[in-house]
Amino acid sequence: MSFIRNAWYVANWAHDLQDEPLAQTILGENVVLWRGADGDVRAAEDVCPHRFLPLSKGRIAGNDLQCGYHGLIFDGHGQCVGAPTQAAPPDCKIREYPVHENMGMVWIWMGDPALADTNDIYDLPEYHWKDWGAAFGDALDVEANYLLLCDNLCDPTHVNYVHPSTLGNPDEINAPVTFEDTSWGVLTERLTPNSAPTGFVAAFGNHDGKVDMWQRYLMYTPSVSIIDFGATAAGTGSWQEGGEGRIQVYSCHFMTPITETRTIDRWLHVRNFQSDDPSVGESISEQFRIAFAEDKDILQAVQAEETRHEGRPKIGLDLDASAGLFRLKINRLLRAETSAQAAE
Ligand code: FES
Ligand SMILES: [Fe+2]
Repeated sequence: MSFIRNAWYVANWAHDLQDEPLAQTILGENVVLWRGADGDVRAAEDVCPHRFLPLSKGRIAGNDLQCGYHGLIFDGHGQCVGAPTQAAPPDCKIREYPVHENMGMVWIWMGDPALADTNDIYDLPEYHWKDWGAAFGDALDVEANYLLLCDNLCDPTHVNYVHPSTLGNPDEINAPVTFEDTSWGVLTERLTPNSAPTGFVAAFGNHDGKVDMWQRYLMYTPSVSIIDFGATAAGTGSWQEGGEGRIQVYSCHFMTPITETRTIDRWLHVRNFQSDDPSVGESISEQFRIAFAEDKDILQAVQAEETRHEGRPKIGLDLDASAGLFRLKINRLLRAETSAQAAE
């Protein structure tokens, strides 16, 4: 198992939780999510302990969830609080999962509820800023382990080969990639000064000549990826600030492992230009859709071969270094969780 349990994952888009319970498999566990009459989202194990009907087949009753078979009622802590024809049996309880909404998504804590701290949920400040524009993308369903997606999101070098028409840039093929170990994960960077604009920058920037571009891949453990990229007119600014015709985008991926070989990547993006025009957000999404479908195709093919060649060693390249560091950090977290469990 490669899943870290004591972590917040995105369970779904917040707007998908309306007046019906929603079934979702996360880290191989079946979870039911629902929004109570008070507007708060709740989550529990998706099984009724009576005859094991999934509770997602039931209905929302006030803030609680009622089983669709014989009407047992469960609260947001998984406790049975009502039973037909008798008092609720005191030992009738299912597992609860802490949940919290942020950035238009419902986040779920898959580990020990006592360790859940909502302050640890990822947040991008610019998402909330009035002069930046946010747009929701899709829930990309990929038949691959989440770490294959993380490898890809630590790796700017694949862009020229997998995404030549949108994000790639021939000037960039030999541009150096640097990376650093951070408290939250791994930061991989590629700066491309004085270059021809990529297809994306040409489409959304307003540049006649050469541009300075940056790509910064922020890969947070266990599975949030923020790609900060943009451009300014060459020699007029930096990735940190300033610059003529500065365009900047945060492409955000929230990956939820479903099984060992399936991941849902919910993506959205936040931009500093034409923030009040939703059609601009949609045309960015259109470009991203092309690119992410290209990634999906590659990663599913890699997963299929990995499964077929299980145990066969791979050849390492210098460009693997930052993805390798990220996997090392994941392994450390997994070991820490396993030893904490063994100590209990
Ligand atoms: S199966 Fe849920 S109440 Fe009987
Ligand atoms: Fe990609």
